[in-house]
Amino acid sequence: LCFNSYLAPLMPALAFELLKTDSGSAARAGKITTDHGVIETPIFMPVGTIGSVKAVSQHQLKQDVNAQIILGNTYHLYLRPGMETMQAAGGLHRFMNWDRPILTDSGGFQVFSLAANRKINEEGVMFQSHIDGSKHLFTPEKVMDIERNIGADIMMAFDECPPANSTYKYALDSMKLTHRWLDRCFTHFNATPDKWGHTQNLFPIVQGAVYHDLRKESCEYIASKGATGNAIGGLSVGEPEPVMYEICQLCCENLPQNKPRYLMGVGTPWNILECIGLGIDMFDCVMPTRNGRNAMLFTTKGIINIDNKKWETDFSPIDDGLDSEVGHYYNKAYVRHLFKAGEILGLTIASLQNLAFYLWLVKEARKHILQGDFKSWKDEIIPVLKTRL
Ligand code: GUN
Repeated sequence: LCFNSYLAPLMPALAFELLKTDSGSAARAGKITTDHGVIETPIFMPVGTIGSVKAVSQHQLKQDVNAQIILGNTYHLYLRPGMETMQAAGGLHRFMNWDRPILTDSGGFQVFSLAANRKINEEGVMFQSHIDGSKHLFTPEKVMDIERNIGADIMMAFDECPPANSTYKYALDSMKLTHRWLDRCFTHFNATPDKWGHTQNLFPIVQGAVYHDLRKESCEYIASKGATGNAIGGLSVGEPEPVMYEICQLCCENLPQNKPRYLMGVGTPWNILECIGLGIDMFDCVMPTRNGRNAMLFTTKGIINIDNKKWETDFSPIDDGLDSEVGHYYNKAYVRHLFKAGEILGLTIASLQNLAFYLWLVKEARKHILQGDFKSWKDEIIPVLKTRL
């Protein structure tokens, strides 16, 4: 009798414990338990698209950033290194030597933003690789198989993310298709075992563009699936900020209280604080790493463009307000020099600073939710975070 299979039926799926809900807002502090450890919410998840958080090592993710969970991407990992390598490696945790939780996006977003010549129909999406032009078909069943093989603790459902300027008719048809694909995702997910010995979870994604009635309908449909967590997609895709907040609030009000809520692909530091205030528990975004590689540093005092000549002889730490060593260890003039000289260490320092800052931000938010002064803290700190230094 195998120890694992003996225990498997007794192992709980992902558990969410709601520790406190704020009195002045809808913000929550909670705790998600997975087979790869605990995630304290609200949380920010660094994006490691292809099995690497760009310019940052796994060791740095633990030591300097204290990342509690990272993202991988189905579309990218499927194209490269491919599923044969993933199978031979024993899943992504082993392949990249990361023993904390991993969430995979389904490729529903990347197929629409990256792939060429995509053709969408009831069965799935035909597309051509952005790398070599090869042709592939993603169906809900195939995406479930890929995410199982990657070994994600949290697998995202295969969805269509319609553009922000979609007509009502397009958004309606797209949402209905996403719901039918969701049924197929759950059927296949439930018919297949956990691949690598740890519990895998499937999170459905709310769509509906900017239309309130569609978003409400999508929330109700998604909630009826009884998943261990729920996500909101199709936001921060070009709609004005107030519209994003309005839709985010509507979705939070129509998704279960006792399950984590994940807002996909959002956003700026102030977006994150505002959406925590609306009831979001999980976030991911390429902004800290991508903008970091483009010389933009997020700090506890505001935003720095490290390319700017004003930092040429400023030897003060990049961020002494941060609880990560990175902010204290390097000075602004030095990091500017690295960027000017095209030294790759500059990219690493900027990425580390920004990720450490994002993780600090959600940790502070959690502290203030637990203390009971989240809203006043948020309203005070947002103008500081937006300051251009
Ligand atoms: N990332 C950001 N937005 C989305 C979305 O709507 N769907 C998926 N699958 N990923 C996303």
